Amino acid sequence: MAIDKTGMAFTAALPETVAAFNSAMDDYMVFSGEPVGHLLSAAEVDPDFAMGYCLTGCLRLFGGASSVHPRVNLELRAAKARRSRVSSREQAHIDAFETAASGEICKAGMMWDAILVDYPHDMMAAKCAHESYYLVGETKRMRQSVLNILPKWDKSLPYYGFLLGMGSFGLEEAGDYREAEDMGREAVKIEPRDCWAVHGVAHVLQMEDRIDDNIAWLEETCSDWDEAVWLRGHLWWHLCLPLMESGQFDRVLKIFDEHISDCDKDMVTRLNDCTSLLWRLELKGIEVGDRWDQLVGLWVDHINDHAFAFADIHLAMTLISAGGEKKLRRFLESQHAYVEGEKSTNSAIIEKIGRKLCLGMIAFRRGEFEKVIEEIEPVRDQIYRIGGSNAQRGIFNLTLDAAREHVA
Ligand SMILES: [Fe+2]
Repeated sequence: MAIDKTGMAFTAALPETVAAFNSAMDDYMVFSGEPVGHLLSAAEVDPDFAMGYCLTGCLRLFGGASSVHPRVNLELRAAKARRSRVSSREQAHIDAFETAASGEICKAGMMWDAILVDYPHDMMAAKCAHESYYLVGETKRMRQSVLNILPKWDKSLPYYGFLLGMGSFGLEEAGDYREAEDMGREAVKIEPRDCWAVHGVAHVLQMEDRIDDNIAWLEETCSDWDEAVWLRGHLWWHLCLPLMESGQFDRVLKIFDEHISDCDKDMVTRLNDCTSLLWRLELKGIEVGDRWDQLVGLWVDHINDHAFAFADIHLAMTLISAGGEKKLRRFLESQHAYVEGEKSTNSAIIEKIGRKLCLGMIAFRRGEFEKVIEEIEPVRDQIYRIGGSNAQRGIFNLTLDAAREHVA
């Protein structure tokens, strides 16, 4: 047995595995480095390190990989093969990972929450629950997950500031803006590199339309989050929202080119930001040049993924915007086959909500504005179920409003 820096015991054959796990968790907190690399290097030489495969697979899922991603499958099998040799807490982690990989993301979040009842300092469980709820728009659960364990934490524990950062975002998404801002600012004071806490505060400022405050907040913290390779693009995206509101479109395009579009094809969350920003610019009447053509090349490998409705819709928006009718047809056929063949909560969300949003956004690009209203309006109060944040999902209301203006 080994003990990680939060005091959790886990199964490992080699003493150096502890350092690898701690490094991975440290990286995960600040969205930097190579947590997957740390974990896999350790797991490949430590035959007992089931948690290495478990966390690696979860990180891939949370990054937007689908359960059919060959690496996720491999990691799930590797973790399960070691299941009988690990503690009940680790077994519960592996079971939650398997549940998430099967498309039951909310249920997986609840399984990680259940681990926290007995192990409230298990930061991996807290992070996994937080990410799961975020991915399926379960804002109240996301808020409560942190609030449940917070009384059992104090400043002396590693990652305490990061827990506040998660709490801030959960509070914000649930609409508790004052508490969210206070908690987020406290988190950043404790851990200036806590870019997720910076993000929580930026969300509050966005939702409250505090345009100048939002620009100032992100600009003044930028040097602390610009190295956070897994989140920096999204924070630049956040900065672009108030910049657009203040009419600074040239700066937004420059930020897009320099800081947002510089992602690779596997960074699906970053691809979502790229698509979202170009779409928002065009809604404002701004020409984006050939940027859709460049972007579609990064998205095209995900046509058969259907990992999450949110990504599926952004993929459809990109395909239609880049003029890829053939690819779009292939995507819609693949999506249809997925919802017919796969019975999970994820496929149900894609079938009932995601598909309609895809068709609505496609219709908007084709200038079929009545169809936009026809597709999106009936599911409007269900859109939260596709996951992402309130600010991200705002794009559907903006598009619906623009369609209504055309129809009126
Ligand atoms: Fe965000």
